[in-house]
Amino acid sequence: MATQAREYRWVRDGATGARRMRYGADYNPEQWSRDVWAEDMRLMREAGVNVVSLAIFSWALLEPRPGEYDFAWLDEVIDLLHENGIDVDLATATASPPAWLSQRHPEILPQTEDGTVLWPGARQHWRPTSPVFREHALRLVRALAERYGDHPAIIAWHISNELGCHNIYDYSDDAARAFRGWLRQRYGTLDALNDAWGTAFWSQHYTEWDQILPPRTAPTHRNPGQRLDFERFSSDAVRDHLRAEAAVLAEVTPDIPFTTNFMVAQNVRDIDYPSWAGDVDFVSNDHYLRPGEVGRDDLSFWANLTGNIAEGRPWFLMEHAPSAINWREVNPPKRPGVLLRDALTHVGHGADAVCFFQWRQSRAGGERYHSGMVPHAGEHSRVFRDVVALGARLQELSEVTGSHRERARVAVVFDYESWWVSGRDSHPTDAIRYDDETLAWYRALLDLGVRADVVPVSASLDDYEVVIAPMLHVVPDVLRTRLEDVVRSGRHLVTTYFSGIVDEHDRVWLGGYPGALREVLGVTVEEFVPLLPEEEAVLASGARAAHWSERIARVGADVEVLDTYAAGDLAGMPAVTRRRAGDGSATYVSADLGREGVRAVIERLAGDIDALAADPLAAGGRLEVIVRSGQARRHVFLVNRTDEEVVVDAGDGVRVAPRGVEVLTLSAGASDEAAVAAAHGRMGS
Ligand code: GAL
Repeated sequence: MATQAREYRWVRDGATGARRMRYGADYNPEQWSRDVWAEDMRLMREAGVNVVSLAIFSWALLEPRPGEYDFAWLDEVIDLLHENGIDVDLATATASPPAWLSQRHPEILPQTEDGTVLWPGARQHWRPTSPVFREHALRLVRALAERYGDHPAIIAWHISNELGCHNIYDYSDDAARAFRGWLRQRYGTLDALNDAWGTAFWSQHYTEWDQILPPRTAPTHRNPGQRLDFERFSSDAVRDHLRAEAAVLAEVTPDIPFTTNFMVAQNVRDIDYPSWAGDVDFVSNDHYLRPGEVGRDDLSFWANLTGNIAEGRPWFLMEHAPSAINWREVNPPKRPGVLLRDALTHVGHGADAVCFFQWRQSRAGGERYHSGMVPHAGEHSRVFRDVVALGARLQELSEVTGSHRERARVAVVFDYESWWVSGRDSHPTDAIRYDDETLAWYRALLDLGVRADVVPVSASLDDYEVVIAPMLHVVPDVLRTRLEDVVRSGRHLVTTYFSGIVDEHDRVWLGGYPGALREVLGVTVEEFVPLLPEEEAVLASGARAAHWSERIARVGADVEVLDTYAAGDLAGMPAVTRRRAGDGSATYVSADLGREGVRAVIERLAGDIDALAADPLAAGGRLEVIVRSGQARRHVFLVNRTDEEVVVDAGDGVRVAPRGVEVLTLSAGASDEAAVAAAHGRMGS
């Protein structure tokens, strides 16, 4: 069990060794005077804070001049935290370089696709591939590791911060050089590269490696294969930086685990995090709520995926917002109850640490309207009261730490490359979105009270009875075989329009869509029929599709047509199909049916697939049910998705407050039936 291991050391109290739920925030004391530090300690203790991430943006103060360090203030802060029983996730402080570095070495500054230089004045103004930046950053990392490696307050290293958030795509000459090196490794020969990128098109053929550039601004549509490889390269280039810092830390402080905060639900969406998970001692993630009604389920979706990127092991919620953020068009505060519900949803999905950005709301700078645990209004505020209440609740849940999230029987597959590629320009329509489609299926499952895991496409699918892979656009041969195995082994595959269309180079599979999945689905699509904004496609069942429909010209003899197009040019043609193969089946949804429409498809399949039956604890989909299991206990999280109280069963069942969460604790090995019984009787044993 991971609990004793170095990777998971962070969950243990430095003094007592007891496991406790970690609670805290990014702490930026350099923005405040010493009397505020004293108040911070008092308020942190009141809130139950037991960890802070420190020095994330402190490079300019720690190294005010090249090679000249000033650690005195940081020594003081770390000691103060330690005296107050608060541990430290210490940053390597390399996220935002100091003014002297870019002044001396402007060649570290990244460039956008049209050559615009990203100047200092904000943060993350560095090229991931710059050797000069790397050298300076690693020198600082070493200095910090040597100074603080023995400090008892340090429970983890925090490498950089949200690597690639603003600088993932750099089109500079450094990037061009590194890209060529990456391509040489991948392809070996220019012939192989020319073939992969289809450079016969538009006279793009390369005869020398040096002719290859990042996909900089060009007159029109850039080569799709080049773009996909540049995206992969960029994700790898930032990961190289992570590895370089990690190597220094592992050498100097081999006993301290390190992490870097992922942005699994990133707006920039450009990092292939499943491929990074092996590069950190423990996964940590940042999540910012999407505003509006979709927000809660969206949070659950990404938390669920994070848990599976962490391969079921406990992970660290490094950042989320106590209330409003400052970077969308409108930034409303969190509604009553939401602070606690959000945090516990993350915990349900495997987080053993709940941290915020940030401890004290800034007075100055670009994030002064971003909420903090201590808001501008001070401690006598709704936010701080909620913060204190959450701290108390988390300590009650310490027993949950170390348990793993129980696997569901249904998987929703998530593939970063399909996300990148399906959203490209020069496509049949701009109106479809990979993340919306996958979320629609997840929400439909939640609506039906069916537990599902959101799994990276690279994860094993062997233990899932139902594999739902919406808009799985990029399907190389190996993936095709894995999906065919699902059906061959008597299990169930469900997929949708725009799946199976291209190989790993964004080259279209020929012979009819959905290309790589044509055989397993038993359908042949001749033409995509995207819909104009004012159009919709009505199906015989009454379902209505927006954005997308298609002409399924042929279905195999073993294929049942579940629904047809009811009107227009496609009238009478198949819209939803299901091929049966032994005990297994492969279902295809050819149109964008939205959450309601796919819900009806799932309900239909539930008729003969047990794994799609509703969980009685979900109270008809009003609650999300998440289960974490440990050696001695099972913890059943019931998360209220609604604004009304939900009673699990009429009578004296568990009452879950509007937007609230209840956690039932059962003995390990207790069945779901026991959970139902416990819910009825209020608590299990
Ligand atoms: C994250 C970042 C934090 C802060 C936060 C605001 O992207 O890591 O430093 O900027 O967003 O939402």
